Amino acid sequence: MRGGTFLLPGVAAFFLLSSSSSEGPPPSCMQKYSDLNACFAGPNVLPSRTSLFMTFAMKPNPARFLQDLHELRQIGAAGIGKGVQRRAFSAADLTARSWLADRMRDADLTPHIDPAGNTFGLADGRSLLVGSHSDTQPEGGWLDGALGVVAGLELARAAKDAGGPPISCVSFQDEEGRFGVLTGSDIWSGKLALADADRFYDTDGVCFADARTGIADIAGEFLPHDMFSGFLEMHIEQGPYLDETGLKIGVVSDIVGIRDMTVVFEGRQNHAGTTPMHLRQDAFQALSKFNTLLNDRLRNVVMPTTVWTIGHIALHPNASSVVPGRAEFSMQWRDGDADRLARMEKVIRDTASEVAKDANMSVNFGALMGIEPVAMDQRMRDALEVAADQQAPELWRRMPSGALHDASNIATVLPAAMLFVPSIGGISHAFDEDTDEADLVLGLQVLATAAEALAS
Ligand code: GLV
Ligand code: MN
Ligand code: MN
Repeated sequence: MRGGTFLLPGVAAFFLLSSSSSEGPPPSCMQKYSDLNACFAGPNVLPSRTSLFMTFAMKPNPARFLQDLHELRQIGAAGIGKGVQRRAFSAADLTARSWLADRMRDADLTPHIDPAGNTFGLADGRSLLVGSHSDTQPEGGWLDGALGVVAGLELARAAKDAGGPPISCVSFQDEEGRFGVLTGSDIWSGKLALADADRFYDTDGVCFADARTGIADIAGEFLPHDMFSGFLEMHIEQGPYLDETGLKIGVVSDIVGIRDMTVVFEGRQNHAGTTPMHLRQDAFQALSKFNTLLNDRLRNVVMPTTVWTIGHIALHPNASSVVPGRAEFSMQWRDGDADRLARMEKVIRDTASEVAKDANMSVNFGALMGIEPVAMDQRMRDALEVAADQQAPELWRRMPSGALHDASNIATVLPAAMLFVPSIGGISHAFDEDTDEADLVLGLQVLATAAEALAS
């Protein structure tokens, strides 16, 4: 079973503990990125709560920002175009977090990793948090997540260089759902208990609890939310709209909600040569019929922006001479309206049950996971719109996000907002995801202008 925020009654544990220490930061570990322990070695030092409220014009450095983005894409480089393979808690992911901790320390930020693997670079005092995630899909692009993380790092550095305002950066863990749905930010926001996440398994049978032993020795506490005044996330659009219209910036109004569950058809495994067609209980045929019926029935329920996907299928025993006895698959659907998500769930469950009954099979549904649709914070949106109008007049627009983002979770505990830049050809979750570097830099500048206005 893959995990996420369970939409079942239950109490989510809350892991927020505050702490402070007067000890200095651990020694630099610039020389190597492979030793994550060394990078977070020493006591869990949280910065003092003394704020610097002097404000100066921040000047993000585009060359430094682009160089770091390219350095980060070398960690887990797929060897195909600019593609990256850096799944949550893989060796590449841990190396990337170590690299990030070094960059943070170089910038006089305090690196801090929490028990879920969320990696923060903390400024002194209460700060604006800027970031995203640095884990990737199994076949990921170089910008999905990494862009927002390096933009956060660059803004935190530019703020330090300018003497303020205080900006911290973050890379959340497992945004891409190896184990859950936005797992790291789901846990940090308090909606998902760490103990529940620990029981989530990836599709290879590895559980979250085992995966996170890689950081057990260096993880500190979960940080209190009130260390931060708000959260800004820059991201590629991951869709075609900005690219097709020639616009450069999207200011996100809302992020869709998602539902995700595993469905299993159990039929009868048998010989593919001797079992007559009319006697078969073929689990793949059931899945195929379900898919066709579902596409037809959902048409009465959905909007043009609604999407649904069967993205992972495991047939058992998955052999060409065996009638498959078991078909397990992921069923995911997304929409901006929670009621529509619920109506879709009913159609999905009813259709699967009907197909199973007709084929004399059983069907089982896994735990329903999800993230609610969420609106971005109006004040932060306004700041992004003012900045977009200054830096990219006539070249920006408001738009909803069909992709999920850590901001979905963080918006439940902090004011949160998001900025998009174009994705060439609307491609993402694929090795050939890309964005013109001039668009990346323009997005950074808009983000910096908004961040300075918000954090001062
Ligand atoms: C996040 O990557 C998503 O699947 O929307
Ligand atoms: Mn992403
Ligand atoms: Mn993604």
